[in-house]
Amino acid sequence: MKVIFTGSYAESAQRSTEIILSALKKKPDLLLGLATGETPLGVYRLLIDAYREGRADFSCARTVNLDEYVNCREEDSYRKYMHDNLFDHINIPRESITIADRAAPPEEEVARLRRFFEENTVDLQLLGVGPNGHIGFNEPDEAIESLVHIAPLAKATIDANARWFADGAVPEKAITMGLGDILRAKSILLLVKGESKRDALRGLLDSTAVTTRNPVTFLHLHPDVTVIAETPPANQ
Ligand code: GLP
Repeated sequence: MKVIFTGSYAESAQRSTEIILSALKKKPDLLLGLATGETPLGVYRLLIDAYREGRADFSCARTVNLDEYVNCREEDSYRKYMHDNLFDHINIPRESITIADRAAPPEEEVARLRRFFEENTVDLQLLGVGPNGHIGFNEPDEAIESLVHIAPLAKATIDANARWFADGAVPEKAITMGLGDILRAKSILLLVKGESKRDALRGLLDSTAVTTRNPVTFLHLHPDVTVIAETPPANQ
């Protein structure tokens, strides 16, 4: 596992963007796994800049998103977040975007996305991490599902994500890639932003043990992970 401390979120976003752009240059038909939340917003802004300045071409690229809320309103969906913050500002073909449909029958969406991951391998997976160590919506638990599934959200996640919902009412369930789907990506880029992730990051960096109580530790099982954070957790 390669760990890079950058000193600032701006620098973290810059380094992450460089990794994505270099992967895209090497493989124009890159399948990019994408995350939502606050963490990747700076990266998406820099990807848009790169496209506008002619330094990036997404015309052959494909994307798949980690997760989506079940039965949320359209305006609260990760699909809308992705269009607002990235897709509508770059030249990615609409048919090259894969994200769970918040309004479709969830079981059908799980089956559709499981087929997608049987047929496709993510080249580069961008990840954030929740304050409780969740990746995607794989929450700390006794056991963690390896394939795409419907996940009940932990209270800590509902509280952490309430800021995104005008009425504070966070859906209780989401469709998420499983940990096995995430670990099958050829390479993984974990971007860690902010103080609230300190404990999850410490759990990842202080030991090579894997525990379902801190799902991000499963990244120890992967041979090609880059972690980009502002400061070591001890300094936060
Ligand atoms: C959300 C998403 C995750 C994301 C995490 C961190 O619940 N499901 O994919 O990485 O929480 O969010 P943020 O970047 O806003 O801290």
